[in-house]
Amino acid sequence: MSVAVALDGPAGAGKSSVAKKAAKELDFIYVDTGALYRTIGLAAMRENIEPVASDEVFDLLKRIKVELTFNEKGEQIVLLNGEDVSGQIRTPEASMTASKISAIPEVRAFLLDLQRSMAKTNNVIMDGRDIGTVVLPDAQVKIFLTAAPEARAGRRYKELIEKGMDVKYEDILNDVIERDNFDMNREIAPLKPAEDSVTVDTTELDFDQSVEAVISVIKEKTDKHF
Ligand code: DC
Repeated sequence: MSVAVALDGPAGAGKSSVAKKAAKELDFIYVDTGALYRTIGLAAMRENIEPVASDEVFDLLKRIKVELTFNEKGEQIVLLNGEDVSGQIRTPEASMTASKISAIPEVRAFLLDLQRSMAKTNNVIMDGRDIGTVVLPDAQVKIFLTAAPEARAGRRYKELIEKGMDVKYEDILNDVIERDNFDMNREIAPLKPAEDSVTVDTTELDFDQSVEAVISVIKEKTDKHF
């Protein structure tokens, strides 16, 4: 039987980088579900459709095909109607649109089967917001990866400064807090730890320690059955 690890948590806790490294070490497939919401956001952006519950969005869902595949390096590729959009979904605009479009119940329902099918035949670490609560409620391992807002804002600030951007720490901290509030208080699939999840707080951990902490929860919960 395949092993499913549900990894949820707020933006900026390091989920994707930690999950990618842990998946590589364990020889699991890493599935980034945020990319799927970003892809629908991109489809809406291309057609100038507002990311709100509307007939236009429902009609868009009938016309698009979203698929996940992997390249020879094992990296996830997301296809929109057969086109590789993995790079195009990484803009700040796509991120903002994804956040809005992900609050629409029909969009979440549209992506459910695709996410579940990935975990049927593969050992997966699936990263998202509602994986342990909604997508894979029977996952053998559920981890809620989090860190204090100040730590998450500090990491993001460092990343952007290193890229040569002129940003203020206070602005980033405010954004982090605002997005947390939005994600935790939305009506559908709000961000919250599953009851049977283990919380890994990375506030005081560096990257390698965070990976180690995640791997040790996975091994403990599965008795290394993989
Ligand atoms: O993880 P990310 O930043 O790529 O996610 C993009 C948006 O999609 C984010 O605002 C929250 C949403 N999302 C979600 O609602 N449920 C998921 N399982 C994954 C992402």
